[in-house]
This record gives sequence, C-alpha cells and structure tokens, in this order.
Amino acid sequence: VIEYRTDLAGVGPGDLDGFFVDWPKPPSPERHLEILRGSSHVVLARDGERVVGFVTAISDGVLSAYVPLLEVVPEYQGRGIGAELVRRLLAELGGLYMVDLCCDENVVGFYERLGLERWDAGMGIRNRDAL
Ligand SMILES: CC(C)(COP(=O)(O)OP(=O)(O)OC[C@H]1O[C@@H](n2cnc3c(N)ncnc32)[C@H](O)[C@@H]1OP(=O)(O)O)[C@@H](O)C(=O)NCCC(=O)NCCS
Repeated sequence: VIEYRTDLAGVGPGDLDGFFVDWPKPPSPERHLEILRGSSHVVLARDGERVVGFVTAISDGVLSAYVPLLEVVPEYQGRGIGAELVRRLLAELGGLYMVDLCCDENVVGFYERLGLERWDAGMGIRNRDAL
C-alpha cells in the first residue's frame, strides 16, 4: 500500500534509495534530503519506510510556484504514483495563480493529461559544477 505524505516525518537518507536515474552526477541521499527540506512543498509516496516517489515545489506563497523535481523509482513506475503525486501537489498549490515546470519532450503527454498546458518556450541555465 502506497502512502502519500506532505511532510518529511521519519524520513532519513537511508529511505531515499534508487532516485536520480541517468543523472550524470546524481545527488547523494543526504543531498536529496536537503533538497526535500529546502522545498516549500513536497509530496512523498512511501511504501513502508521507503520513499518510492517524490515531487517538490518552490513557491513565493502568493502568486507562483515552480516544480523542479518529480521522480518515481523505476520498479514502482506505471502504477499511477507519478500522476497521484502531481495531483496532490497541485491541490496543495491550488490557490496560486501560476504553477510552472520544464520537462523533457517524453513527459509532455503525462503532464497534459494532468491538466498542464504546453507553453511556447522554457528558458534556463545550468551550472554543472553545482551538482
Ligand atoms: C514521469 C514519471 C514521474 C511518471 O510516473 P509513473 O508513476 O510511472 O506514472 P503513472 O503510472 O502515474 O502514469 C499516469 C498516466 O500517465 C501515463 N504516462 C506515464 N508516463 C508517460 C509519458 N512519459 N508520456 C505520456 N504518458 C505517460 C501512464 O500511461 C498513465 O496513464 P493511465 O492513467 O492511462 O494508466 C516517471 O516515469 C519517472 O519518474 N520518470 C523519470 C523521471 C522524470 O522523467 N521525471 C519528470 C521530470 S520533469
């Protein structure tokens, strides 16, 4: 049974295994926990103690939020967990005017089914030394 949580109670680095698949320099579980703690909003999917999916948002709390990270560990993908994480995050952010994210082409369909619209351009800069 997957449990969805919006807090980090009881989560330690040892519960954050198997994320950042295919990242050239994946953050350690300790840094992953720092990312979760530093986010204004988080939704976790937990199977017992283990975190098997997460989504984060950074918000000003007035108008806007950005969604930097969403991932479900590979062995739990395809069970509706990613969609449920996004639905719950959007509910948490429901009062805000704008909720934005950038994503790869292969997940555009996933987000469109959840009600997000595709914009003409996303802009960004990457400091790879910060990984
Ligand atoms: C994208 C991701 C979070 C989806 O999580 P998931 O738990 O496997 O997805 P779900 O099972 O909730 O899928 C929900 C629906 O979206 C569909 N879907 C899943 N991935 C999709 C994709 N890439 N494109 C289009 N539809 C997709 C599913 O078929 C499912 O449809 P259904 O409701 O008809 O069964 C997961 O594949 C993942 O972690 N990928 C690697 C990291 C990543 O790409 N993150 C997004 C960065 S912006």
